[in-house]
Amino acid sequence: MSTWLVTGANGQLGTHALPLLAAAGIDVVATTRAELDLGDPEQVEAMIAEHRPDVVLNAAAYTAVDAAEDDEAGADRINRAGPAAVAEALARHGGRLLHVSTDYVFAGDASEPYEVDAPVGPTGAYGRTKLAGEQAVARALPDRHHVVRTAWVYGGPTANFVDTMTRLERERETLTVVNDQIGSPTWVADLAGALVELGRGDVPAGTLHYVNAGQASWFELARAVFRLIGADPERVQPVDSAAFPRPAKRPGWSVLSTRAWVAAGLTAPRPWQDALAEALAGRRAATAGGR
Ligand SMILES: NC(=O)c1ccc[n+]([C@@H]2O[C@H](COP(=O)([O-])OP(=O)(O)OC[C@H]3O[C@@H](n4cnc5c(N)ncnc54)[C@H](OP(=O)(O)O)[C@@H]3O)[C@@H](O)[C@H]2O)c1
Repeated sequence: MSTWLVTGANGQLGTHALPLLAAAGIDVVATTRAELDLGDPEQVEAMIAEHRPDVVLNAAAYTAVDAAEDDEAGADRINRAGPAAVAEALARHGGRLLHVSTDYVFAGDASEPYEVDAPVGPTGAYGRTKLAGEQAVARALPDRHHVVRTAWVYGGPTANFVDTMTRLERERETLTVVNDQIGSPTWVADLAGALVELGRGDVPAGTLHYVNAGQASWFELARAVFRLIGADPERVQPVDSAAFPRPAKRPGWSVLSTRAWVAAGLTAPRPWQDALAEALAGRRAATAGGR
């Protein structure tokens, strides 16, 4: 039986990956920060030496994009040094690494979807540390890693845009949402399934992108959420990002191309609208059931 070690087991991706791995008959060592602090290289080495996983799914990250601007060393510890330690331990003990990265490694000023080999150019601390993590993983484990860049991930249980919109729909009559940032909304359940497929296959090492198909602005995504939960989408109005100054610059246009993913023989992602409809239908069913 194959053994996977999952870091960040209570984050969005970790939470959704665990049941899929169990259903696939994979033996899982699930670790939250309390069991494995990715920022502690000795803990990383000890955990991998003990369990000798066939695959590590690194679902842990420092994901607080704005906080990272004033804490780049803290973000670097989790986003670069952590995965570097995992890759180095796997180089010693065997096993492959599935490492998750982000569209923030790009400058976000594109007009065509970013391919896996497009020039990188992060504009903030989070993106810089994630890029450094990608490079460290590839260096330490050249033939046994996958870096999978994704974007605009929603589905919970941690904070995410879609949950925020469903909450604001209950709390406010109208709201304004930025219409000048374009990206690839991605349901975490689809991402988790995709990573399990990748980890069970024999795709050569390297960098891939996985996002749901299509593109949207945050405003378009918010309107789609309202429509799907039966609220009037006109209650959401568009605004420029200048109206919401944030410490970290957001990518203006950072749609990711999944051409390499499909070319590798992996299942093509479905349109983001279909994934969002299923995500919100699941939530309605859960609410109706009193959970
Ligand atoms: N969310 C997005 O929109 C998005 C977009 C592009 C890429 N990504 C990437 O996708 C991956 C998964 O993101 P996500 O949305 O699932 O993130 P998330 O919900 O914020 O989960 C991150 C997890 O990492 C854990 N963590 C933080 N520091 C740790 C440490 N020192 N040791 C061990 N665990 C630690 C967190 O634990 P605590 O609960 O203890 O803090 C949390 O469980 C990340 O690599 C992220 O960079 C996410």
